[in-house]
Amino acid sequence: MIVQGGKIITPAGPVPADVVVEDGIITAIEPPRAEGPGPGDVDATGRWVLPGGVDAHTHFGMPLGDGLASLGWRESSAAALLGGTTTIIDFANPDHGEPLAAAVARWRALADGRILCDYGLHVTVVEASPERLAEIPALLAAGLPTYKGFLAYKGRLMLTPARMSALMDAVAAAGGLLLVHAEDGELNAAVEAELLAAGRTAPRWHPDAHPVESEVQAACLALDLARQADCPLLIVHMSAAGTLAALRRARADHEEGGPPALGEVCVHHLFADDAAYRASDDAALAALCSPPLRPAGHGAALLAGLSEGAIDLLSTDHCEFALDTKRLAAAAGFPKVPNGCGGVGERLVLSHTLAVCEGRLSPWRWQETFAARPAEVMGLGRRKGRLAPGFDADIVLFDPEARYTWRPLGASDVAGSLWNDRPVVGRVTDVWLRGQRVVEGGALCARQPGGGFLPRTLDPQLMAKDS
Ligand code: URP
Ligand code: ZN
Ligand code: ZN
Repeated sequence: MIVQGGKIITPAGPVPADVVVEDGIITAIEPPRAEGPGPGDVDATGRWVLPGGVDAHTHFGMPLGDGLASLGWRESSAAALLGGTTTIIDFANPDHGEPLAAAVARWRALADGRILCDYGLHVTVVEASPERLAEIPALLAAGLPTYKGFLAYKGRLMLTPARMSALMDAVAAAGGLLLVHAEDGELNAAVEAELLAAGRTAPRWHPDAHPVESEVQAACLALDLARQADCPLLIVHMSAAGTLAALRRARADHEEGGPPALGEVCVHHLFADDAAYRASDDAALAALCSPPLRPAGHGAALLAGLSEGAIDLLSTDHCEFALDTKRLAAAAGFPKVPNGCGGVGERLVLSHTLAVCEGRLSPWRWQETFAARPAEVMGLGRRKGRLAPGFDADIVLFDPEARYTWRPLGASDVAGSLWNDRPVVGRVTDVWLRGQRVVEGGALCARQPGGGFLPRTLDPQLMAKDS
């Protein structure tokens, strides 16, 4: 198959090129042919030809207990494909007392046979006990090199600084990468208790219980601990300008021999702000996530960081709950509402509309942070995220001129979406996963759950390229 007549994105901008695919692998990128497409070829005239996106942070079908779960693997992966993302990395979350390997097996059983795109798994560590930490080398050898630790969520997921240090020592010794949720769980819990005591239980109070300084302090702590442990660290879902300042200092330190310090920002923290909490109870619920949406200004600072290479990854933290699920939980006060927003379907089009079209992100950097950098940081950089010979033929055709009103993709919950009814520019028209067409003319055509589990191996050189 030859994808003909489109433009690929280069550091100099979009240029005409043909993409040659054989047996699900890209074999060549060639100058455009003069003759038209032959049988089996694809006419990509008027479209950009992009690598399939890699979203390094999702929570599909995440069980929360009480029968609650975020929207499932099939629906969420359908939204991913329709939005131009062909690979996601989700999180296996162990219960307290559960071995990490058992949680991984549980998550694989949830995903396999349901998921339509390729996927990998991070492993969440909620008990940094010697027994759990001893599992890390074997898991890493089985293709699970990335771990997440929480400084937030006191009494549930939070690790003390001493436990976080022990986790960093174990991850560093094994050659892994630690992802940290940087919010000070003690501070958040204290503010939350004051709010509840004052009767402030409605969803709009959620951001007050997650102050900016809580994130910045926790990020500084995590970066200091990582320096001491010589542990590569990724601060996930950065939401505050002060967190970026802390990350910049750690990156300068990396130049002087410190460990790699990486950053991730999510679509909702870039393109939405805390006005959503004041609009209505339902709008507040749709926006209820942690860290929360911040006052206008933080998103612009983070976008500048993404643009200049100080932040590596553009992700989503896609964790979508039906609005009714959030409404029911809200009756018992905002702390009981499951946290998370959608975004996996919106990542490409929204960032095109609000960053590329506005001249705040170059098309090249947009493509890098959407596909290549997440693949490189997460140990998929020799296979995913680029249009280059030897890479999987994960290919997206994108019409950069299409203008329309956004409606959530797949089975996304329209009422609960942050992005519903926004004017957007750019449309995903066609997608291939390993050479198989999965989206045609903007509609899902994947018949079977054809996604596969991706074992990953970190490549320190590729990982640290931008930092
Ligand atoms: O609100 C969020 N972010 N939910 C997902 C869990 C997490 O902390 O990433
Ligand atoms: Zn988190
Ligand atoms: Zn998350």
